Amino acid sequence: MMENSDAKLIEDILRLKRQRKAIILAHNYQLGEVQDIADFVGDSLGLSQKAAKTDADVIIFCGVHFMAETASILCPDKTVLLPDINAGCPMADMVNAERLRDRKRELPGVTVVCYINSSAEVKAESDVCCTSANAVKVIESLDAKEILFVPDQYLGHYISTKSGKKMILWPGFCSAHIRIQPQYITNLRQEHPQAKVVVHPECRPEVIALADEVLSTGGICRYANRSEVKEMIVGTEIGIIHRLRKENPGKKFIPASEQAICPRMKLITLERILWSLEEMAPEVRVPEEIRLKAKVAVDKMLEIGRG
Ligand code: 13P
Ligand code: SF4
Repeated sequence: MMENSDAKLIEDILRLKRQRKAIILAHNYQLGEVQDIADFVGDSLGLSQKAAKTDADVIIFCGVHFMAETASILCPDKTVLLPDINAGCPMADMVNAERLRDRKRELPGVTVVCYINSSAEVKAESDVCCTSANAVKVIESLDAKEILFVPDQYLGHYISTKSGKKMILWPGFCSAHIRIQPQYITNLRQEHPQAKVVVHPECRPEVIALADEVLSTGGICRYANRSEVKEMIVGTEIGIIHRLRKENPGKKFIPASEQAICPRMKLITLERILWSLEEMAPEVRVPEEIRLKAKVAVDKMLEIGRG
């Protein structure tokens, strides 16, 4: 049941959204009430494609900092707002441009592939970007002798096994997905023998080895919609369970771990969204010099996706 105060908040958000000609984009890990008022809910790839295409003047980005930056890289003429400026991705912060430049000096001629979970400065130092949805395709498209993948060692490991390409991995990881232990999957499989095990590629290799499918958050949602799927053990951040249950009433979704929470994603609340629309802040804008360099890596990724 919706509280009266929530109903008032939502009414105010929707009214201001129309006045500002804004669109609300939300990641699959956002709080349920935030997902429910969004114009589009999706994974990093879907959100960046949506941002690139929108004719809205303002993008309210309900996600983490690198996602808002990607929207700003693609749409410099729009105002991109991140309702809580502290909503950063800890994994993205595990690499910075200076350390990446040092590593590139140690590996002359190396091709740098950055996960979209990285800052604009890191993207500007990279040859091509990828998301969890297109990472294998991006790597397979490269004709490179040596590939350095930043910052997620587990996604990097996964795509290197899928593509057969040897890669140098940066030692980053996601603090939410690392909490999912292989033993949890084994135990849950015993309790729910009919369930499909679907995990995100940010999970550890030992968890990935136990899964039926390894998919981006958008891929997980599409997989859950299939008629033959009735029960699913879900190895990713628990925010996605809201969308899975909402879109698939009657099906059963079991989180692999209730501890797989990304606290930064949960900083975005209805109150913050309203405040952000009122104040037109906090704005995320990438300086032009960095934006143009970072855009080369992002455009290359989007181009490979179209191929
Ligand atoms: P997706 O692109 O699969 O939504 O993943 C983003 C993310 O931050 C996962 O932790
Ligand atoms: Fe970053 Fe992990 Fe949170 Fe995704 S879930 S935003 S990778 S910390």
